[in-house]
This record gives sequence, structure tokens and C-alpha cells, in this order.
Amino acid sequence: MDKTITNDILYIGCDDKELEQFEGQYMLPEGMCYNSYLILDEKVAIMDTVDVRKKDEWLDNLEKGLNGRKPDFLVVQHVEPDHASLIAEVLSKYQGVKLICTAAALKMLPLYFPQIDFSTVAQTVKEGDKLELGKNTLHFFAAPMVHWPEVMVTYAEQAKVLFAADGFGKFGVYDSEPDDWSCEARRYYFNICGKYGAQVQSLLKKAANLDIQTICSLHGPILKGEMLKEALRLYQIWSNYDVESEGIFIAYCTMHGNTGNAAEYLAESLRKKGAKKVSVSNLCVDDWAEGIEDAFKYGTLVLASPTYDGNLFPIMTDFISHLKIKNYQKRKVAFIENGSWAPQAGRLMKEMFADFKNIQITEPVVTVRGALKEADKANLDILADELLK
Ligand code: FEO
Repeated sequence: MDKTITNDILYIGCDDKELEQFEGQYMLPEGMCYNSYLILDEKVAIMDTVDVRKKDEWLDNLEKGLNGRKPDFLVVQHVEPDHASLIAEVLSKYQGVKLICTAAALKMLPLYFPQIDFSTVAQTVKEGDKLELGKNTLHFFAAPMVHWPEVMVTYAEQAKVLFAADGFGKFGVYDSEPDDWSCEARRYYFNICGKYGAQVQSLLKKAANLDIQTICSLHGPILKGEMLKEALRLYQIWSNYDVESEGIFIAYCTMHGNTGNAAEYLAESLRKKGAKKVSVSNLCVDDWAEGIEDAFKYGTLVLASPTYDGNLFPIMTDFISHLKIKNYQKRKVAFIENGSWAPQAGRLMKEMFADFKNIQITEPVVTVRGALKEADKANLDILADELLK
């Protein structure tokens, strides 16, 4: 895929095809890329480093990109180790390089690099500050909680490029097909930044005042043209917790297949009754982070769970906890429970949702006792009617 930005701005990031889980929890079927950029102007600026896992490759990319020149600045937009791991290598290899970061980043850097005296090498910048490189002027904008508190983004005025830190990132290696952007960008957004919709909205407002022709995220492809427009459109929806697509997502856990049968029956009933889109996931085997993505994508969520040792089935407890952490809201939610002697899952799921914001619970909670029976199917048909109202 094309990695051209401008004649002066080079891509020097790395693909990590061996990484199986991002942040120790998100499945990576294709790996992950850590983007980094080099601005070769009268002054030379490195825009973030990469994960230590790609140390040799990145240092080699940097050296080739520099082509004999020396960097003047290392701009650290985000301190998280997937981007800032190689600060020590840069500072030691290229003497005199000035590290540019926010005051909040300067406080965090010693947590990762206790051996470095940053007071001698760092220059802090704040919202509205500029850095003249020659032909290009860099403008810095605070972007707290997108996705850590110290984050800033950088606008290269003449090139019309926004370096967006984690914003507009996605899972996967750089060379994924461009058509795939929204799928893995959505899973990335809701699982990584989902909690911070208000802060993303604030960043989008700042971006709306800029003439942006290119977005360079720290993950995923360089966005231009139609893909850039689509990314901005989707970020407005996602950060406002709006429904992206009309549809119903059914997420279930099942121990012996019976709760799964109930979930699948409901899906079929909804389809027969004219539901535009019904998506189903077995949280016991499918990627739960895809489930989080689908829960946010559609306007209605149905959760189906067995009761387990008098409690909610642990995988369902975990899934609802993830929804809570990610600020799940503005959706319609319904429940199916199963229990052979004392069904509790419906009550427990409802209780977990009690302090969610803007959630409308759709009744009835359907109770299945063991195998799915005709009376249960009739109740699921009633629930389907309610969901489609
Ligand atoms: Fe890609 Fe928040 O690090």
C-alpha cells in the first residue's frame, strides 16, 4: 500500500506480524503496525518512535530515511510504550536532539526511563504552540485521553498533514487492504478509546478548523481522500455514541448449547419478522472485542447467559464489565437467562446495567430452564416483537 505522504515527510514505521495480542488482551489476527514518521525539512523532526519489539528495524528505517542527516527534534505525542519505547536509543545515538512533548508527558517519561535526565533534553509544548522546521510549521494541539492524558496531536500546516497519535488507528499491519479500515478501526476505537467519546469530540472540533488533507495515525494506513472523509464521518458517530447501523446484536454464552439455541432461535425469529440486520456471537468462542465493537455498532443488544454457581456466567460478567468500562450507552438492551434449578442470570445482568447511562431495557426477560422448549420459543417470539417495535 502507498506510504507516500509528501516529498519531505517519510513513513518509517514497522509492521509486527508476530504480535498475537495488543495490550495483552486484543486478538490480532494480522498483527499490528507501529507508525512513525520523519520530516526532512531545514530542521529534521522524528514523529514518535515504535515498540521495542521492532527496535532494530526502526533504527534502520530511521537511519535510511535520514540519509546522512541528523535529527533536530524527536516529537513524542504519546508516551505509551508501543510508540515511545525507543526514546533512549534516539537520545543516545543522536546527541543534541531535542525531545518535544507536553508537560504531562514530561511527568510520565521518567516512569519508563528513570535513567534519563529529561530536564536537559526535553522542551514542553502546549496547545497553540508552534515549531518552525523551515518550509513546515508544526502546530501542537492537546488531545488528553485520546488515549492517555499526556497525548497531543500535531498539524503540519504547509503539508496539511495531521499527525493524530492513536486517533484514527486500527488493528492490523500497515499493508491491510484500505477497504478494511472501518472494520478493524471500529474494533480498535471502541476497545481502546471508547471510554473517551467526549475527549474525541473535543479533538474533532479542533480538527474541523484545520485544512487536513492527510491523517497520519500511529496505527493503520495513511488516510487521504475518500478514506479520510469516511474516517472523519465515522469518528463523529462513534465518539457521540450514536448508532452507526440499524441492527440487533445478540451475544450469548452457552455451556451445553441450550442458551445458544435460545439466542439463535431469537435471531431467526427477528429475521422472519423483518429485522434488517441481526448479528450473533458466542462469547465463549468468538473474539469478545468484536462483540464490544458490534454492541456499539448497532442500536439494540440482546444478552443471553446461563446462571453459574448462583451467579452470572463469568464470561458474560466480563463482557458486561467491558461494556461498562467503555461507557456503553444510548442503546436498547434485552436479556435471556437460563438456569436448571434457580435462574438468576436475568436479574444479575439487569443489576449490572442499573448504573449504565441512557440504556432502555426491553421486556420481557425470557427465562429458559435447560433445553429450549415450545413455550420458550413463544416467549422469544414475544421478545422479538418488542425489540422490533
Ligand atoms: Fe498506540 Fe495508546 O498507544
